[in-house]
Amino acid sequence: MQSLFVAFLFLLSLTIVGAKKKNELDDLENLLENIDQESKDDKKPVNREEVKNPCEDHACGWGKECVVDKKSNPTCECISKCPELDGDPMDKVCSNSNETFASLCDLYRERCLCKKGSKQCEKKAHAKVHLEYLGECKQLQECTDDLMAQFPERMADWLFQVMRELKKRRELHKLEWEELLQEAEQDDEKKHVYPVIWKFCDLDTKPHDKVSP
Ligand SMILES: *[C@@H]1O[C@H](CO)[C@@H](O)[C@H](O)[C@H]1NC(C)=O
Repeated sequence: MQSLFVAFLFLLSLTIVGAKKKNELDDLENLLENIDQESKDDKKPVNREEVKNPCEDHACGWGKECVVDKKSNPTCECISKCPELDGDPMDKVCSNSNETFASLCDLYRERCLCKKGSKQCEKKAHAKVHLEYLGECKQLQECTDDLMAQFPERMADWLFQVMRELKKRRELHKLEWEELLQEAEQDDEKKHVYPVIWKFCDLDTKPHDKVSP
């Protein structure tokens, strides 16, 4: 699921970058970064053995991890160490500043450190660094008009495939979406519309103006 999502972001950034809407990309980045949960008022543990790890259900934004503080509250801090990699070239990522990072984790860890003004931050400007594409930075080929014209349809088709895969894994979570997917499977037009609506609603997580699908 995570890799699907990363791939989705990748495509999404391509769309957005293609459309020169950097601000929207920043909004998306901020959304991802700020999903840290507000800590709920945890009941004070009576018996230490019975207590589950306060971090267990505590989500942190990208580049951060949950750490239990002195008062036994879960807090989100910059990841202390990213997982070891096995040298897959596709683990590397290229940032919007055209710098290669060892992994997505390293990129967002650096961003987190720089935002917090940590001494470990390598470059102040990295407080605004974000993913440009997966893989090492390279000379990108010109996006031809032809490819641009194909893009919306390919994007929609790709989302359709993602939806299908999630349904197979029972990860679509809402029966309504499964039903809509079923409709889309039998109708070429819906096939290119429903998945886009689905993804939009999925990303539109804190809407003040939410409409039901
Ligand atoms: C980004 O870096 C790559 C590899 O160092 C280089 O080939 C490419 O020209 C750079 N792109 C830009 C836009 O500077």
